Amino acid sequence: MIIAIAGTPGTGKTEVAKTLSGITGFKIITTKNAALHGAVSGRDAMRKAMIVDPTKLQKAVSKMIKGDSIIEGMLAHLLKADIIVVLRCNPAELQKRLKSRKWSARKIRENMQAEILDTITIEALGKRRKVVEIDTSKKSSKEAARIIKNMISGKIAKKYKPGSIDWIKKYGNYLLDPESKRFNI
Ligand SMILES: Nc1ncnc2c1ncn2[C@@H]1O[C@H](COP(=O)(O)OP(=O)(O)OP(=O)(O)O)[C@@H](O)[C@H]1O
Ligand SMILES: [Mg+2]
Repeated sequence: MIIAIAGTPGTGKTEVAKTLSGITGFKIITTKNAALHGAVSGRDAMRKAMIVDPTKLQKAVSKMIKGDSIIEGMLAHLLKADIIVVLRCNPAELQKRLKSRKWSARKIRENMQAEILDTITIEALGKRRKVVEIDTSKKSSKEAARIIKNMISGKIAKKYKPGSIDWIKKYGNYLLDPESKRFNI
């Protein structure tokens, strides 16, 4: 059984993966570590981030998998898994979490925009795998991990199917003018 834990930065992937590993015994594979084994194709100087080739990442991850596993981190939503869990977070809460990392305003804005636009979920659905969403805004990582554990046992409640989380209604205006104080969260 392979569970991928994906989501915009700050949605809680690493924390939830650790908690889930603690209650299931599944081994954690982080995509960043796997990427360093031959999947880095360049560097995005402006974003100070590595550029990862998803095909090479899949190969590196496949080599690391031995038994039940949790794959967590950037690009986890594009990898082969029995269930892809996309963690979601209310943009206002996400902004708080990312601000506490002292990231640049631009980087925070880009990630909030991605979260509002359901980017990771849409990309995951393009892979035609089983995709679920969990909103971590008001949940502890323990609660989120328990929900995933139930999913492993085969129980997936309707409310976790993609489509019920919608930030656009409340935060759509932020996309039009993210720098305006009027729309700032
Ligand atoms: N369910 C949660 N409720 C409240 N805060 C949370 C929750 N999960 C994580 N956090 C907090 O949000 C922050 C981001 O969590 P975490 O580092 O696990 O995110 P991430 O998705 O792994 O981010 P990245 O993609 O940058 O690795 C941390 O400070 C963490 O304590
Ligand atoms: Mg992380």
